[in-house]
Amino acid sequence: MMRFLFGSGAIAIVFGAVVFLFGTLGAEAAPPKQPDTVDIAAGELLYSENCAACHGGNLEGQTDWQRAGEDGVLPAPPHDETGHTWHHGDALLFTYTRIGGKAALAANGMEFNSGMPGFSEVLSDEEIWDVLAYIKSTWSERIQEVQGVRTQSEQLRGK
Ligand code: HEC
Repeated sequence: MMRFLFGSGAIAIVFGAVVFLFGTLGAEAAPPKQPDTVDIAAGELLYSENCAACHGGNLEGQTDWQRAGEDGVLPAPPHDETGHTWHHGDALLFTYTRIGGKAALAANGMEFNSGMPGFSEVLSDEEIWDVLAYIKSTWSERIQEVQGVRTQSEQLRGK
């Protein structure tokens, strides 16, 4: 009986340490997450000021957006349902907007001549979330659901 108690106690301690370790690591590596409150109206205004020039006033993107120019840079894709913005979870969209395409892809080991600038000097994190919330608010319920699942799986995978 004594050994049984001691044994399970040791296991409990080890288990506690593992939970502690993973808890800490998880907290450090946690992917960015949309805040509970976002301002969609502010996001719409910020979109028209910062994004519409390339991504279009109606989120329609640039013509021939799937074909790279002579410099290898892609035109800006639409953010409406005809594009692929909704194929990505929130964390990726946030990082792509915050640090720009080149740095975001470099972080995943890809070298890419991106036409998407980073906005970390122009917009606060909160403002970036507002813009993304505005973009998402224009999608149908079904597309929002699909994108929501991608966001959840990003959070579960930790990236
Ligand atoms: C100077 C033009 C330009 C501006 C301004 C711009 N973008 Fe982009 N954006 C691009 C291009 C070009 C791409 C295509 C991918 C690439 O080349 O990296 C892109 C891609 C993206 C993507 C990835 C979409 C996907 O489907 O993979 C997101 C998200 C994005 N932009 C958000 C924004 C937001 C939000 C703003 C405004 C705050 C903005 N962009 C402003 C040019 C621009």
